[in-house]
Amino acid sequence: MRYADADLTLLFYHYFKPLSDFRNQVVWITGASSGIGEHLAYALVKSGARLALSGVNVERLTAVGERCKEISKYAKKDILLVPFEINNFEVHDECVKKVLDHFGQIDILINNAGIGHIAKFADVDKADDQRLFSVNVFGNISLTRRVLKHFLERKKGHIVVTSSSSGKLGTRYSSTYAGTKHALHGYFECLRSEMLDENIDITLVCPGPVVSKLTRRSPTGKVEEKDDRQQQSTYMQMSTERCSDLMATAIAYKLDECWISLQPFLLTFYVAQYFPSKFRTLAIMYIIKSFFFKGMKKRLTSKDGTDSH
Ligand SMILES: NC(=O)c1ccc[n+]([C@@H]2O[C@H](COP(=O)([O-])OP(=O)(O)OC[C@H]3O[C@@H](n4cnc5c(N)ncnc54)[C@H](OP(=O)(O)O)[C@@H]3O)[C@@H](O)[C@H]2O)c1
Repeated sequence: MRYADADLTLLFYHYFKPLSDFRNQVVWITGASSGIGEHLAYALVKSGARLALSGVNVERLTAVGERCKEISKYAKKDILLVPFEINNFEVHDECVKKVLDHFGQIDILINNAGIGHIAKFADVDKADDQRLFSVNVFGNISLTRRVLKHFLERKKGHIVVTSSSSGKLGTRYSSTYAGTKHALHGYFECLRSEMLDENIDITLVCPGPVVSKLTRRSPTGKVEEKDDRQQQSTYMQMSTERCSDLMATAIAYKLDECWISLQPFLLTFYVAQYFPSKFRTLAIMYIIKSFFFKGMKKRLTSKDGTDSH
C-alpha cells in the first residue's frame, strides 16, 4: 500500500492484464494540447487508437498531433485536430460533425479539458466561479450531450471524465475547483444509472496532484511563465506519463471510477471513502497538512508578495 499510486483495482488491471488494443477505435480527447490529455494521446495512439484531438492552443495541438503521427504504429494519418473553446457552446455541434465526417464514428469521448484555481473561499471572485463552472462543468456536459446522441444511435459508446481528487474530497483553497469536479460526479453518476441498459459506459478518473500547467493557469486560461523546473515530477506530484498510462488502463477496462495518486494523497481517498464522519476530517488534515498546504500557502503568498493568512 505504501508504494501504491492508484486504487488497488486499477493496479490489478495495470499489472496483471495486458493493455487492450485500441485499434480501430475512434477516441476524441479534449484538453489534448498539454498535460494529461497530451500524454494520454501518446499512450492511446501507441495502442492503435484513431484520435480526434481538441484544445485551444493550435500551435501546441499541432505539435501533439505531429508527435502522435510519429509514434503511431498503425493508422499513421488518422489524427484529426479539432481546436475549440469548450465553453463556446455554439461550436459544439459543428465540432461533433467535423469528427463524424472524418471518422464516421466516435467510440470513446474523453472529457479532459479543464482549468484549475487556487484561492481562499472568501476571496473567490464571482467571475472566476462562473468561468470555472463554464469550462470544467457546462462545457464538458454540453459536448457529452451531443456525443451521447451518436452513442445512443450506435447503441454503444464510452464516456471518460477527468475528475480529480478534488472531486472526491474538499481541501483548503480549492473550493471553486472542487465544486466543479464534485459537480461532474453528480452529472455523470446519474448518467451512468440512465445508461445501464444502453451499452454506454462511464469512467470517472480521479487523479491527485500531477505535473502539468494546470496550477500555472489563471482562470482565463493564460499560462503563467514560470521556470521549467515546475514541469519535473516532484515528491508529491505524479509524472504526467505515469498518470496517463494508468488512465489508459482504466479506459481499456472501462472501470467505473479510479483513483490515481502518489502517497500520502491516495490514502486520503480511502479515508474519505470509508470514514465518512468526524475521523475523516481529522485524518485527512493530519495526512496532508504538513505536505500540501505549506506549498499552497507559499504560492498564495508569492502571488501578491504578501502573506494573506
Ligand atoms: N494536474 C493535476 O494535478 C490534475 C489533477 C487532477 C485532475 N486534473 C485534471 O486533468 C485535466 C487536464 O489538466 P492538466 O493537468 O493536464 O492541465 P493542463 O496541462 O493545463 O491541460 C489542460 C488542457 O485543457 C485545455 N483547456 C483549458 N481551457 C480550455 C477551454 N476553455 N476550452 C478547451 N480546452 C481548454 C487546455 O488547452 P490549451 O492549453 O490549448 O488552452 C489543455 O489542453 C483537467 O480537467 C484537470 O482538472 C489535473
